[in-house]
Amino acid sequence: MASNSFGNLFKITTWGESHGKAIGVVIDGCPAGISLNDEMINLELERRIPGKTKYTSPRKETDQAEILSGIFEGKTTGAPISILIWNRDVQSSQYESVKHLYKPGHANYTYLNKYGCFDFRGGGRSSARETACRVAAGAVAKQILSDLGVDIVAYLSGAGSIQQDFLLSDVATYQEIRGKVQGSSIFCPHQETESKIQALIEETIEAKDSIGGLIEAVAFNVPSGWGDPIYEKLEANLAKAMLSIPASKGFEIGCGFDSASMRGSVHNDTYQVVDQTVELSSNKAGGTLGGISTGMPIVIRVPFKPTSSIAREQNTATLSGEAAKISLPVGSRHDPCVAIRAVPVVEAMFALVLVDAMLMNKSVIHVKT
Ligand SMILES: Cc1cc2nc3c(=O)[nH]c(=O)nc-3n(C[C@H](O)[C@H](O)[C@H](O)COP(=O)(O)O)c2cc1C
Repeated sequence: MASNSFGNLFKITTWGESHGKAIGVVIDGCPAGISLNDEMINLELERRIPGKTKYTSPRKETDQAEILSGIFEGKTTGAPISILIWNRDVQSSQYESVKHLYKPGHANYTYLNKYGCFDFRGGGRSSARETACRVAAGAVAKQILSDLGVDIVAYLSGAGSIQQDFLLSDVATYQEIRGKVQGSSIFCPHQETESKIQALIEETIEAKDSIGGLIEAVAFNVPSGWGDPIYEKLEANLAKAMLSIPASKGFEIGCGFDSASMRGSVHNDTYQVVDQTVELSSNKAGGTLGGISTGMPIVIRVPFKPTSSIAREQNTATLSGEAAKISLPVGSRHDPCVAIRAVPVVEAMFALVLVDAMLMNKSVIHVKT
């Protein structure tokens, strides 16, 4: 199986399966001299783990990262950083009763077609458990970005029929958004929307169903110049990063899909001169032009599909080709809305793309004539 790595200069390679002994990530290309310890990574992992509230899966993945290499006296050395996370809450027995069935919305159909084998216990490499490794690597990337004053915040902006357009217009600064996101059990910074989504999730669990959700993420203080004009366009790499997250179904930057129905006179971000400096007067482009960051906040949106595993009975087929029915076995532990736990994953992937773009930008020499 190819393609377990992501990034050019800041490159991560993840390994392991959800029902194996452990999972982990190797980070190659991390600059030396960055402060780092297990605790910093564990704080990020803590945000992703399930079982903390009734709005996420009751699985108890008490993720604890162990840094195995690349650190000396609390700082990165420039050598590969290897991070290990043991799998501690593995309950394989619940998958026995459905192991002979194709699972609607899951990867076992395509995996079996492609590889001829599939780890029925949790999805093997297609399991979203792999995203813990991304969050661990993202914690390192965030540390580098924070030294540069760059901050990323992601949040749940809608779920199911509750889609609210409150976002940046309602909040003054990213510190304010971050505070509100941290105070929410579902990473939603808008209290009224949060309560509505929580009620909808409870209703959805009762109905043995699941809902999708929309994540918005913003990177603040990214200087102009990160990203390249062609195949390494910043937005192209962000799109790939986001669409590589399990259950993500789209990507928007700035006005995104709304751009298709706008006029140039409305969509154009015009320029203004403030204190003899040329600035953009708005940010409909979402923080990039021609694949390169403008210096405005980078604003993206990622929709997540409703959780595939549901307790309701659905049509399916056995692996040997007979029609069958499937529903989650009693006691199965799934997320009613995967978008909630994907919030820290979106932040992590955002950070990985930005650090890579920042390092790539170091190769540019801007000679002033
Ligand atoms: C953090 C996170 C947790 C997830 N948890 C579940 C889950 O509990 N049950 C489920 O059916 N899918 C879950 N998913 C989504 C599946 O992993 C994903 O839908 C499946 O592997 C098929 O891949 P695809 O949706 O990208 O095509 C989760 C995704 C993420 C990002």
